[in-house]
Amino acid sequence: MNIQDRKRVFSGIQPTSVMHIGNYFGAVQNWVKLQDQYECIYSVVDLHAMTIPYQPEQLFHNTREMLIDLLACGVDPQRSIVFIQSMVPEHMELAWVFNCVTSYGELTRMTQFKDKTDQLRAGDKDALISAGLFNYPILQAADILVYKAEFVPVGKDQEQHLELSRNIAERFNFQYGEYFVPPQPLFTDLPKLLSLADPTKKMSKSLGPKHFIALFEEEDVVRKKVMSAVTDSGQPAEGMSPGVANLIEILKACGKLEAMAFFTEQYHQGGLRYKDLKESVADALVELISGFRVKRTEIVSNRDYIQRLEIEMADKARAIASQVMREVRERSGMHNYGRING
Ligand code: TRP
Repeated sequence: MNIQDRKRVFSGIQPTSVMHIGNYFGAVQNWVKLQDQYECIYSVVDLHAMTIPYQPEQLFHNTREMLIDLLACGVDPQRSIVFIQSMVPEHMELAWVFNCVTSYGELTRMTQFKDKTDQLRAGDKDALISAGLFNYPILQAADILVYKAEFVPVGKDQEQHLELSRNIAERFNFQYGEYFVPPQPLFTDLPKLLSLADPTKKMSKSLGPKHFIALFEEEDVVRKKVMSAVTDSGQPAEGMSPGVANLIEILKACGKLEAMAFFTEQYHQGGLRYKDLKESVADALVELISGFRVKRTEIVSNRDYIQRLEIEMADKARAIASQVMREVRERSGMHNYGRING
C-alpha cells in the first residue's frame, strides 16, 4: 500500500512500572501488527497517569521505561511515531478547547470515573479525587483528534471513552464548523488474561507479583509462576475451570495452536495433566520473553539513542499537532501568533 494512502491510527498506554503479558497480548502485540497497514502514532500517556496520586520521579522513570518496553516489543520508530505525551503540549491545549464543548452531564456518566473513584477511596477514604480524573476522557479525545486520527485500537473498557471522543468531535464541528472526523474504534479479538494466583480476577499489576508475569521477567521466575498457577478454584466449576482456561488462552496468545488443540482435546477426554499443560505454557512464554529481553538489553545499553529518539519522535508528533492546533485556534476565536484580522 502506498504510504500516503494509509489511514492514521492513534493509541495510548499508561506508564505503569512494568509491562506484563496481559498488557502485551491485550494491546501492544496488536499495535505492532497494525504498523503493516496503518500510519501509527503511539503514545506513553504520562499526563493521564497524573490524574491519580503519584510520585514525580517515579512517573518520570516509568514513562521512559514504558517507551523502551514498546520499542523492545517491536513498535518501530522507522515506521511509526512513538512518543511521550507530555513532550507534546498541544494535547493539553486541545483538551482545554474540548473542556469547553463537553457537558458536565456526559462526563458524570463515565463508568470508569466511578470505578476509579471507588478504588481510590477503598485504598484511602480521604484520597484526592481530582478534577483531572473527572476530565480524563476529554484529554483522551484530544490525544486522538490532535492528530486527526481516524482509528483507535482499544479494548472494550475504553468503548465509552471513545464514544465520548466522537461526541466531542461532533460538538466541535457543530459549534465551529466541520473540521474533525469522529474517530472509529478498531476492535480486535484480544485475549483477556486472568491472574495466575487468582483466576477469578483480571491479570493486573496491582494484585501483586504472584498474579502476573512481567514481559521482561527472568526465565526461572516465569517458570516458577506458571508452575504454581492456580488451576482449581476449589469450587466445582461448570466446564473448564477459569485457571485452566487461562493457561490455554496463554498458549493460544503465544501462537501455540497445536499445543492448545492438544490440551483442549485431553481436557475433553478427561485426561488432562496440569503439569504438562503448565510446562508447555512456561516454554512458550520463555521463548517469547527471551527475544524481548535481548532487544531490551540492547536498547538500554544506548542511553544516548533513547534520548535522541524521545526528541525526534516528539518533534514528529508536534509537527502534526501544532498544525491542527493552529487551525483549531483560528476556528475557535483564539489568537494565533501573527494573525492580524479575524
Ligand atoms: N485511557 C487509555 C487506557 O487507560 C489510555 C489512553 C489515553 C488512550 N489516551 C488514549 C487510548 C487515546 C486510546 C486513545 O487504556
